Amino acid sequence: MPGVSLVGSGSARLSVALSNDALSQRVDTSDDWIASRTGIRQRHVAAPTDSLTSLAAEAARNALAMAQVSAGEVDLILLATSTPDDLFGSACQVQAALGATRAVAFDLTAACSGFVFALVTAAQYLRTGVYKNVVVIGADVLSRWTDWSDRTTCVLFGDGAGAVVLRAAERDRLLGFELCSDGSLNHCLNLAYQSDPAVLVGDIAVQEGTFAPITMNGREVYKFAVSRVPEVIEKALFRASLTTADISWMVLHQANQRILDAVADRLGVPLDRVVSNMARHGNTSAASIPIALDEAVRANKIQPGDVIATAGFGAGLTWGAAILEWQ
Ligand code: UT7
Repeated sequence: MPGVSLVGSGSARLSVALSNDALSQRVDTSDDWIASRTGIRQRHVAAPTDSLTSLAAEAARNALAMAQVSAGEVDLILLATSTPDDLFGSACQVQAALGATRAVAFDLTAACSGFVFALVTAAQYLRTGVYKNVVVIGADVLSRWTDWSDRTTCVLFGDGAGAVVLRAAERDRLLGFELCSDGSLNHCLNLAYQSDPAVLVGDIAVQEGTFAPITMNGREVYKFAVSRVPEVIEKALFRASLTTADISWMVLHQANQRILDAVADRLGVPLDRVVSNMARHGNTSAASIPIALDEAVRANKIQPGDVIATAGFGAGLTWGAAILEWQ
């Protein structure tokens, strides 16, 4: 059976940084509270001229350049996002922006787990031998859906885009994975459609609502993350016939430094093996893992042959882990 190799990574550079101090001019918060509770010092926000598509395409272009794969060679583009420019999907616009004319492209929504879910989905196409080159993008512009008057959520999120290129290979570098969902906890984290019924004609009514800003029960999601993430990583390691001692790098969804520390502690992984860029980017949802991965690769931390344990967790609720070997 053909396998999967990760051959490139990339991310988008957002020019607008929003510091904790700047945010505290808007809501009753402080750099001290945000940094001590979350590890976040600043986040980036998309400029009014940016689009989800432009950020995703920039990340994909950089990943393709590292992989030395041309846009014309791409068979599939998977865009993990919860914040498309178009509810019908933005992946096709990314395909057009890249000039990846042969590629089929579609969106995949699994919130902050989206990148891991998309990576595993992409791998199935490669393992069956259907496709040779796949671009997986995680991109979100949560600033569009943030309630900027709610200090319990607006300090957490940032915008961003990251991408990887996967290629069919003889040896499979997706060593193991485990994906999970629990819709009974859906109410803990939402960006939900709010119905506003309106009479269309006679006794027939339709809905003329819109999506309401993000709401989250932070404490519940925190408890969920620190219990489920170590468990799902252990299951994925088991499927890979590896143990925590084999992990070179943990690249987790960047939601809260305290969550990263707690997961590392439970698994007995030294903190200097845990990639963290939360201080600079905040929580960028589906983009957080590929951005963290790309930064660690470009800083020459992650080297060919390194074993990466990655895990995403968030709305749905969804969570999942993948154990990968870099290149
Ligand atoms: O990406 C999806 C996954 N999301 C996550 O993983 C998020 C998980 N949750 C968390 O990271 C944490 O729960 C938060 C960072 C969201 C909150 O931290 P916490 O330590 O759980 O704080 P808390 O919600 O228990 O609030 C503690 C206090 C409250 O005041 P009282 O009730 O003790 O008087 C809040 O009103 O802190 C207050 N507070 C703030 N104060 C200053 C909440 N937000 C702020 C703020 N600035 N921004």
